[in-house]
This record gives sequence, structure tokens and C-alpha cells, in this order.
Amino acid sequence: EKDGYDYFMLKEIAEQPKAVANTLLGRIGKDGLLSLDEMRLSDDELREVDKVVVVACGTAYHAGMVAKYAIEHWTRLPCEVELASEFRYRDPVVDRQTLVIAISQSGETMDTLMALRYAREQGARVLAICNTNGATIPRESDAVLYTHAGPEVAVASTKAFLTQMIACFLVGLYLGQVRGTKWGDEIRSVVRDLSDLPAKVDLVLETMEPVRELARNLASATSVLFLGRHVGYPVALEGALKLKELAYMHAEGFAAGELKHGPIALVEEGMPIVVVVPSPRGRSVLHDKIVSNIQEVRARGARTIVIAEEGDDDVVPYADHLIRVPECPVLLQPVVSTVPLQVFACEMASARGFDVDQPRNLAKSVTVE
Ligand code: M6R
Repeated sequence: EKDGYDYFMLKEIAEQPKAVANTLLGRIGKDGLLSLDEMRLSDDELREVDKVVVVACGTAYHAGMVAKYAIEHWTRLPCEVELASEFRYRDPVVDRQTLVIAISQSGETMDTLMALRYAREQGARVLAICNTNGATIPRESDAVLYTHAGPEVAVASTKAFLTQMIACFLVGLYLGQVRGTKWGDEIRSVVRDLSDLPAKVDLVLETMEPVRELARNLASATSVLFLGRHVGYPVALEGALKLKELAYMHAEGFAAGELKHGPIALVEEGMPIVVVVPSPRGRSVLHDKIVSNIQEVRARGARTIVIAEEGDDDVVPYADHLIRVPECPVLLQPVVSTVPLQVFACEMASARGFDVDQPRNLAKSVTVE
């Protein structure tokens, strides 16, 4: 079943280009625009929405964090992202005009299910983004968009994460299309960028040997920090989560701008720090800021592992290890920059002698609150 791979996780990492392509399949019309009638939410209903709230847990929550940037940018609707386990305990403001998006690979996560039930009681419309056909969460939602990533067996989520982000991009863009905040040509251009992603993920996968070697070299580290800004921030959180759950190593993700507000005190000689660098094109302010963050931690002795786009030369002097990813529009970059972090955690765990597919204390789906 593992198709010759040592672990399901490796197989599922390798399946990502196909999985991403499958999430897009059948959802792009001949006119290059999106057709998501399958969601069972009418255009009128979507036009009534005045706020989006995403609820999810773990890796799915990180996908939700990425979604927020895209949804707000494309639709100009306010979008909140909340851990499903926190949502219903804070008297959240949701009503008939709120679109709640519940993201779950398994479709059985109890906290996410309880959050969506709560949201529906308040009159909100709930859209599930799910990988498992007919699971409880899509069954109890008003609408569903399946990710079609295929079964994910490894406890650590990989292809589900990439495809959840794609599904969120589709929903965000579709909202923009229906509500008229994005026009035909803009939508077509993002759709083309989305369609280019499977090949880009493939390219990343072809260049992973140095990442594996690096992970083996760092297998005795006691702590790894991950830094990112903008959509790179959830990627940093995801990289840290993978390392915790698989390699049982202390790992933390930070918004790079928060460094000076505390975390920089953690930096010691030789500490590996992974930095997810945003595209130098588009939002170059962000890029320049993160380059100074890399300098700051390096000046304090950190061993910097820099994930940057092909052609980004500004980072070269400050990178002890440079991991290249293909050029990508800013908002879509997490789809490529997450992949090296998955490979890194997987290799680190196996170098430390742990069962990558069955990490201790964890279950594939958490069906208790
Ligand atoms: O099935 P779900 O997407 O609802 O699961 C949510 C989390 O439990 C899950 O993403 C978890 O964080 C993964 N083990 C992370 O790799």
C-alpha cells in the first residue's frame, strides 16, 4: 500500500502535485472562471454574506490562517480564523450573514463539529472543506467543497493541508467572482496561477535531497525555531507543528515581527532557525523586513535555514542553508514553501528513530473534545 515508500507520509508528500491538481479538477470553467455550483450555496446567499469565520484545528487551522489573507484580499469581507476548540466558548458574533468555513481532513474532529453546530444554531451558513466523503462535518454543513486529496493515512497531515489551502483559495476567489470584487481577467489570472501549482510542487519535490541531508545533520538539535511573515507565518507554525508531532523536538513558529518582543531571547549559538521568506516581488516591504530579521538572528549565533524563491539573491549572504522554491504569487506561496518543511520533519523523525506514521500520543482524527 505504501507503493515502495518507507512511510505513508512519504507517499503522501509525493502525491501532492496530483492531489492539488485533483482539488482544482472540474472547478474551472471553459471561460477560465470558477464554477462551484456543487457547493449548494446560491449566488444570492453568497452575496448576502458580510463576514467570514473559519474554524478548524491543528494543520487545518493553519490552512485557515492562509485563507484569511486571500479571502480578505479578494473579497474585502472581514475574515476571522479561530481554533474550533475556542470558538463557541467566547460568545462569538455570528448571524445569518456570516459564512462559517469549517476545515477538516477527516470530517470527524469533534471540536470542529461542535463549532459548526454552534454556528448553525446562531443562523450562520456553514461550508465544510473536507477530504472525507460523507463524513459527519460535511453531512451537518449547509454546503461542502471536497478537497479530493485521496485518503491520508499518516497521522501528520501533508497533502490534506496543501489541498485545504487550494480549496480555500477557490472559495475566496469564487466569493470575489460572485460578489463582483474581482473581475473576469483578474480571476482568470489567479486561476492560471493556481493551475501552475502542481508543476511547481513537483519541482520542489525534485530538489529535496539537500533538505533531507540537512535534517539528518540537525537530528540532535534540542530546539528549532521557525519564522515567517504574512502567509509565511502560518507556514512557520505548520513547520513547527510537524517537527513537534513527528520528531518530538521543541519547535516554535513565530511571526518574524514578534522576535524583538520576546522570542529573540531564545536564540543561542548554533540554534537552527528556519525562515520562510516572502516573494521579493509584490510586497517587497515584507521581504526587506524579513531579510533584516535573518540578519538579527544570525548576528546572535543562529544557524539560518532560509526558504526563498528562486532568484532572490538578497538572502544569500545571510543563509547558512538555502532552500529554493519556485517563483509564486505572494498569496499562493505557502503551497510550495510548506513542502520542504514536511520533508525536513519527516527525515528528522526517522533520523531520530521514530515511527513517522504513528507518532506517540496522537490519533489521526480527534473525536473527543
Ligand atoms: O481531520 P482534521 O483536519 O479535522 O484534523 C485536525 C487536526 O487534528 C490535524 O490537522 C492534526 O493537527 C494533524 N495531526 C497535524 O499534522
